[in-house]
Amino acid sequence: MNQTLTIALTKGRIMDETLPLLAAAGIEPLEDIARSRKLVFDTNQDNVRLLVLRGADVPTYVQFGAADMGVSGKDTLMENGADGLYEPLDLNIARCKLMTAAIKDVPTRPGRIRVATKYVNIAKQYYASQGRQVDIIKLYGAMELAPIMQLADEIVDIVDTGNTLRANGLEPRDFIADISSRLIVNKASMKMKHIKIQRVIDDIAKAVAK
Ligand code: PRP
Repeated sequence: MNQTLTIALTKGRIMDETLPLLAAAGIEPLEDIARSRKLVFDTNQDNVRLLVLRGADVPTYVQFGAADMGVSGKDTLMENGADGLYEPLDLNIARCKLMTAAIKDVPTRPGRIRVATKYVNIAKQYYASQGRQVDIIKLYGAMELAPIMQLADEIVDIVDTGNTLRANGLEPRDFIADISSRLIVNKASMKMKHIKIQRVIDDIAKAVAK
């Protein structure tokens, strides 16, 4: 029963909140991930290693089985689809909301509008569900700038404190979804390494519930 376990994570706030949960499952990196440029990290357990990836790439690694498990934002899972993976646990960290937003106090004009977002698939689905005709413009960041520069009428983005919207003269409009980080598991790994993975899930679930 010496199966290896590869867990995909993302640097930054999610990492800071995920490491204590992994520690509760007895998994601790051997060096300070935040201070290293490495992408693969050994842990105190011989057969467990951690990968450090861009957030949008975590589901891809897990879907293809290049990682057995990972931690991914619900926004990324909604945008990329979740084929080939299970989502057994809401980690209740990095909580925020997916919202539409627009220039404060400026009513959205009738008819077809332009929406700027990095969440192209989510936005398409959301506006279609509202029966609204939109042209989607794909951006990679700083979405708040698009309405200011009249590139778009609305944006779809995550909102936490609302400070970024306020600082740019925008306001949240419609709620799309609650977002938080989820534990994800490759479907084949879940079968092949069931005992090992289920133990990690159970330990993390206990730590989340505390
Ligand atoms: C996100 C999002 C907003 C901001 C919202 O960006 O795109 O810009 O956080 O947070 P607030 O409501 O507390 O101001 P993030 O910093 O995660 O960087 P990103 O552009 O890489 O998504």
